[in-house]
Amino acid sequence: MDKILVHGGVRLDGEVRIGGSKNSALPILAATLLTKEKCVIDRIPDLSDIHYMLTILGRLGCEVERASGVVQIRAEKILTEAPYDIVRKMRASVCVLGPLLGREKAAKVSLPGGCVIGDRPIDLHLKGFEALGAKVTVKGGDIILEATQLKGTRINLRGRNGPTVLGTGNIMMAAVLADGTTDIEGAAEEPEVIDLANFLTAMGARISGAGTQHIQIEGVDELHGANHTVIPDRIEAGTFLVAGAIAGNQVTITRCEPKHLGSVIEALKNAGFELSHTTDTVTISPNGFRRPLHIETLPYPGFPTDMQAQFCAMLATMNGTSVVTETVFPHRFMHVSELKRMGAVIDLSAHRATIHGVERLSGAPVMASDLRASAALVLAALPADGITEINRVYHIDRGYEAIDEKLNSLGAHIERVKS
Ligand code: EPU
Repeated sequence: MDKILVHGGVRLDGEVRIGGSKNSALPILAATLLTKEKCVIDRIPDLSDIHYMLTILGRLGCEVERASGVVQIRAEKILTEAPYDIVRKMRASVCVLGPLLGREKAAKVSLPGGCVIGDRPIDLHLKGFEALGAKVTVKGGDIILEATQLKGTRINLRGRNGPTVLGTGNIMMAAVLADGTTDIEGAAEEPEVIDLANFLTAMGARISGAGTQHIQIEGVDELHGANHTVIPDRIEAGTFLVAGAIAGNQVTITRCEPKHLGSVIEALKNAGFELSHTTDTVTISPNGFRRPLHIETLPYPGFPTDMQAQFCAMLATMNGTSVVTETVFPHRFMHVSELKRMGAVIDLSAHRATIHGVERLSGAPVMASDLRASAALVLAALPADGITEINRVYHIDRGYEAIDEKLNSLGAHIERVKS
């Protein structure tokens, strides 16, 4: 397994370009199953999760061609079964369920396994499919969906921890080819849901309200091929802003969408950093003045759970006591014990971390546990004393395109050691 060595004590300076959004690209690639015609998707990031999704589409019978960020897919004849050996590697495999049910009125996909960020049920996805008229069976580790016809209906997708992002996408993808109108209440408002709705609309779907809690879908008979460019990755963007906050003289992220970063920019400003933006860049200029923070993760437009670990890393070296409350995935604190190995002082109770900032962290061997936790460890290591050895970096390659090279281009000193 590859590992990363971060030589600490560097200052970052310069510009870094943000890639296409992983969490937009995954359901958009799945949505290409809805038509027999060719779709061309641009700005697909080079990530292992994307590779898994393209492998699944290939096994379902799609013709897939990929060249420098552009993926062409033709799903002329497709199968409806995605077996465990290919779907187990990525929870987002569940987003093929909606398009398979929508187009073929049948799907058999293995249930995703456990996830280190906590229990990740898909009951809301299944409730939505049932409401549209599908028979849902869970048997032998597989989810089996069958329908003779899908009928538009009213569905509330709000769960106990808020709306579901992939669940909203899945139900939209099943409903675009249903008879009649589907009203989704309690829909996720994330920009990735809007991006998927825009792609489906380009394919001929009739969708209104994406980006609000109420999405309305008028079913159509069939969809056609379309071209689409994926939105910039707001979590990669936020991660590089935190890198600038932790270790930057001045860092500018380019080709990003500042309006998707509202709560992250606000939190950084509240912590005392200076930020400015243009239409597609954001610059962070640390100015020596720092304030501890109280943040709570929430569905969009609230502070993203996918930025929680990176903020914990930042707050661990800022004077004062900060409190971070996780409401979306209450057990998503695997990074805390690793940050403590680097000298961070953090009390964890239930779904809350109380962080007592220290002057400096020190390098240590640490273990990446999930994607965002791994990013947090890289960030914490940048200003730390000595070398931090981060093991199991395959987690980071799932969602960050060449994070080591991008940080090195800003002045970091990171080595990747191949196993
Ligand atoms: N939930 C249910 N039932 C369901 C579905 C979700 O109770 O059927 C709960 C979850 O347990 C959680 C909350 O609802 O407490 C929100 O989960 P959601 O379904 O929104 O998560 P997701 O759609 O599976 C996506 C992102 C995650 C991101 C979350 C929240 C993708 C591929 N994944 O997951 O991204 O954390 O939304 O914003 O889009 C990451 O990129 O590191 C990542 C984990």
